[in-house]
Amino acid sequence: MAHDEFEQRLGLAALFSQQSDAARENGSPLYAGIARAAALDLAGASVLTGLLEPWARSRAGDMLPLRVLGAAHRLVLERGAPALAMWFPSVGGVAPTNAAGRGACYAAWVDALAAHRSRLPELLANPPQTNDPGRGAGLSGMLSIVADTWGLPIRLHELGASAGLNLHADRMRLLWPGGSWGPPDSPLVLHDAWRGGPMPSATAPDVIERVGCDLAPVDVATTQGRLLLTSYTWPDQPARFERLRAAYELAMRTTVELRQVDMLEHLRSLSPVPGTALVVWHSSTWMYLNAVERVEARAAFARLGSRATPDAPVVHIAREYLGERLHARFAVVTQWWPPPQNHVAQGFSAGSAIQYADSPAHGLPVTWMTPRLVELEDM
Ligand SMILES: C[S@@+](CC[C@H](N)C(=O)[O-])C[C@H]1O[C@@H](n2cnc3c(N)ncnc32)[C@H](O)[C@@H]1O
Repeated sequence: MAHDEFEQRLGLAALFSQQSDAARENGSPLYAGIARAAALDLAGASVLTGLLEPWARSRAGDMLPLRVLGAAHRLVLERGAPALAMWFPSVGGVAPTNAAGRGACYAAWVDALAAHRSRLPELLANPPQTNDPGRGAGLSGMLSIVADTWGLPIRLHELGASAGLNLHADRMRLLWPGGSWGPPDSPLVLHDAWRGGPMPSATAPDVIERVGCDLAPVDVATTQGRLLLTSYTWPDQPARFERLRAAYELAMRTTVELRQVDMLEHLRSLSPVPGTALVVWHSSTWMYLNAVERVEARAAFARLGSRATPDAPVVHIAREYLGERLHARFAVVTQWWPPPQNHVAQGFSAGSAIQYADSPAHGLPVTWMTPRLVELEDM
């Protein structure tokens, strides 16, 4: 089950090996190569093994390989690792295409980490802040379904929001073969956003409140904030940099409220409000909760749901890992209080975990499916 995977302490060689597979599956040959070389190095004594020794017992859910990859990218973006920059397209370099290039790139990567070893505790301290606006493609579809179902204004809250870029989901323009949705003048266009079926009807939701919480909220109006988000974006994926840039533009047009607070505390502070639908959403965040916190969060959702009424419904929307292939598949799963009529007809009840879609790690494309019951404990 997924939560057991998060708690495992497999050792850094195994974690980097998994990260290499994930990078390949998610379209980053550059990170696949670096992570593969790191996995081989970490299997025995090496410079990297020594550098990362303090983190050798990391749990899988800490995403240590992503923290290390993000740290090295940050050094490049800060102009502190010129030899590595030669291989990073994010700063005008060229990714290696043969074994000799991959070897030189990896050597420069280890050298950069070693040269800045005193900064590693600071650079590796926090969970990765990957706030990919591509993940909004799943949320926008679900907001449309909530709008269709309840016809009420929506209060949208995000747990682990990072910079809150996905709180603008309904302001993004979505394109897919044969269809489109969202404001045509949006600066942020998500290509190949939706597939499968049945697709949401693309009803425009009326979002009247947008609040995100995070242990370390990111302000994308600042250079530091943008640098942080950019460092966690994979250097050979130009489309993702373009999405980030467009999302910054969107965020400058209309702000969202970001609160620095633990997600459990924020969740427990929420209440249904008559005449509105409360949507609580989270994405790529669940793995950072430990096993006890996940149980507490599920209980907090159930308590919040128990206070919902048809005039003040609550919908929990999660885009999280459900098991099998960490980094590769993220399911869009919902809980509804009270259950909509069509759910009742299908035998679903209040709080049933219903999967609507599947998506890759960075969000695109979302593949919609006939809603089906899943095990919430797997999340
Ligand atoms: C990988 S990012 C995902 C950001 C965003 N949800 C997305 O999908 O693009 C996970 C975020 O969760 C935040 N986080 C981790 N544990 C948290 C907690 N206990 N309370 C609040 N935020 C937390 C991290 O700071 C980070 O910004």
